[in-house]
Amino acid sequence: MTKGRVLVAGSANLDFVVRAPHVPAPGETVLGHGFAMFPGGKGANQAVACARAGGAATRMLLALGDDAQALPLEASLRDAGVELHIQRTHAPTGTAFICVGDDAENAITVVPGANAELRAEHLPDLTGVDVLLLQLESPLASVGAWAKQAHASGVRVVLNTAPAPRAPLPPALLDAVDLLIVNEGELAAMTGSSGTIVERVARLRVAGVVVTLGARGCYARIGGHALLQPGFVVDAIDTTGAGDTFCGTLAAGLASRMPEEEAVRRACAASALACTRLGAQASVPARSEVEALAAAGNSAMTVSRDELGAYCGWVPSDQP
Ligand code: RIB
Repeated sequence: MTKGRVLVAGSANLDFVVRAPHVPAPGETVLGHGFAMFPGGKGANQAVACARAGGAATRMLLALGDDAQALPLEASLRDAGVELHIQRTHAPTGTAFICVGDDAENAITVVPGANAELRAEHLPDLTGVDVLLLQLESPLASVGAWAKQAHASGVRVVLNTAPAPRAPLPPALLDAVDLLIVNEGELAAMTGSSGTIVERVARLRVAGVVVTLGARGCYARIGGHALLQPGFVVDAIDTTGAGDTFCGTLAAGLASRMPEEEAVRRACAASALACTRLGAQASVPARSEVEALAAAGNSAMTVSRDELGAYCGWVPSDQP
């Protein structure tokens, strides 16, 4: 199998993480029971996953402030083997404030800082790049320009629509995307919530779509066919970065020309493992761990394929 080459363009944040019995409701105060700082940011998390869990030759375009917060972010990416294209700005390095409940769920507030300074012209040379991996934590105009440039150069464009878009995405951006990765909330933001998951995916104007379904696994319409991948059973303590781990691992698999089914299965296994550890980049598993879990049989799955199909509204005879 060839080693895929992935360029990630996106955000890097220092995550300030508080653990608490539950994520507080508006107006509520809760007593937390732990605080730590971790390297994060959706783009940087995905780059680490691409390199560590997916084994791809990974580069990343990111923007950092000239401050102490930038240091652990650079170190984490370099430790994972990611080659960096850093735009240094006067704005402070991005930060995220995260509360993780004892049920492993979280609530996140991002202060973009330097991330807001990434521009269309900062995209590095695309020569040799198999996949460009993007998210929505960077300015939308820049994301659109990067996708368009990569698409015109024959580079496969993968867009993770996180955080969920608050307005319809520009058609020109979607036209340049080969594969969308969305969670259920992001899918609802793009299609509305009427109809089954399968029906709503069919309404999207992008050829390839993967819908991540948390612990259940995922539904994908990719490479001209549809597939269901149940999730893997783990003891989850922190879901932060699980979606990013999925995206990075999947992009690495696709860049290496791995069969789509296997790439999706590994992405599900990697994201499950990421839930068993605290932090975003700190929780990204090694490739060997991913391969071991991905090789597990049906008893390691959270749901059966039939249950997952029923949840998504899958009618096998209707599939493309
Ligand atoms: O997806 C998780 C990430 O979202 C965190 O690392 C935080 O920085 C925010 O970008």
